[in-house]
Amino acid sequence: MPRARRKDSAVPATVIRCADCESVLDERSLHSTCPSCGGLLVAEHRAPVLTGAALRALFDDRITAEAYRGTARQRSGVWRFRELVLPDAGDDVVSHPEGNTPLIDRVAIARHAGLASLVVKHEGHNPTGSFKDRGMTVAVTQAKRIGARAVACASTGNTSASLSAYAAQAGIPAFVFVPEGRIAAGKLAQTVAYGARTLRIKGDFDECLRLARAASEKLGVYLVNSVNPYRIEGQKTIVFELLQQLGWQAPDWIALPAGNLGNTSAFGKALVEAFHAGLIDRMPRLLAVQAAGAAPFAKAFAQRFASRFRVQAETRATAIRIGDPASWDRAVGAITATNGIVESVTDEEIFAAKKVIDECGVGCEPASAASVAGVRALVASGLIGRDERVVAVLTGHLLKDPGVDASAVTSSDALTPAEALTLLERVVAS
Ligand code: F0G
Repeated sequence: MPRARRKDSAVPATVIRCADCESVLDERSLHSTCPSCGGLLVAEHRAPVLTGAALRALFDDRITAEAYRGTARQRSGVWRFRELVLPDAGDDVVSHPEGNTPLIDRVAIARHAGLASLVVKHEGHNPTGSFKDRGMTVAVTQAKRIGARAVACASTGNTSASLSAYAAQAGIPAFVFVPEGRIAAGKLAQTVAYGARTLRIKGDFDECLRLARAASEKLGVYLVNSVNPYRIEGQKTIVFELLQQLGWQAPDWIALPAGNLGNTSAFGKALVEAFHAGLIDRMPRLLAVQAAGAAPFAKAFAQRFASRFRVQAETRATAIRIGDPASWDRAVGAITATNGIVESVTDEEIFAAKKVIDECGVGCEPASAASVAGVRALVASGLIGRDERVVAVLTGHLLKDPGVDASAVTSSDALTPAEALTLLERVVAS
């Protein structure tokens, strides 16, 4: 006898599929990677009922005065796109809220890049000061849905700060593994203050991630690094939101810094989905930018992704000091699907871009400036045309890494009030 079909509403809108062996997992699985083959997992949602102009209107109509005064979910720039993020999440999401970050237009940044105009999307305006909050609201909401007893991550600092905050809100204990001496002061301060159990590890980020994965497998702790497919779903909204802010007119390029490659994967997935859902009618090209001392993905791109590389990473942009990126295969797919480019830039180029971004009053943490430095490199080599429309994503806030900027002031001697006045008189008179 045929089994009775479940009512549509009882069928989950999301399945989790292994990108390698195609195994299908329940959407409430505790696994963050495939339990059969260790491959990366991908969330697939039931296609939204609406497409094209109707779907654009649904998302646009959620930006209202009522929503402005509404719940965190109504105000969130992640959950506004819930049909494409986690359709079954319901009302009880763990949201700060987050997202709704600005597009900023400064002549000095465009000039530095060599473009007629350039907008930056500043993800440092998120609640804990980086784009990680967009993935974390979804991953911690999912942790709550599946009744996770504890959550964990490895981090160069921003993921740990974000996890610590969202786990505190959800009331779930959090454990984080960070590389000793390689995490910026602001990020460590946040991670500890929000209450995560912070384990400083004698090793680099890649070592920390191996440890976090092993600990989660052994102890059943829910891993929320960007290998977790729900993190990717949240981070897609950086792209949805910037497209919405541009009136759904796709730019020619979207540039972003790349480390562990979670965000590159999320951007690619978002663009493919936006295109298929008819939110945009042409595909922007992705530009993923690595620091030259931590550029295994850029090296592989130069060889048409014929092989995978691991390097001993070294860069002063500590957020992207990663030598063995976890989301490699997904990111190859993102670059391929968008006819994208992977570039590497030196620390000197990153800090030159950061100086320009800082000095026009915008500011960002070092790794973020890699996106603008990468655009400059591609404009210089003629791969990006001077009049093309480019959005560069700034991933983290200037205050994340205060040591870098304050050192110029704190390394010189303080002045007496009299000396300060004399100096001022001299400067104003000149
Ligand atoms: N920019 C910032 C400010 C970051 O913190 C990170 C990653 C990236 C860019 C790169 O993104 O890893 O998805 O390619 N930070 C992680 C962390 C690794 O632990 O905070 P990715």
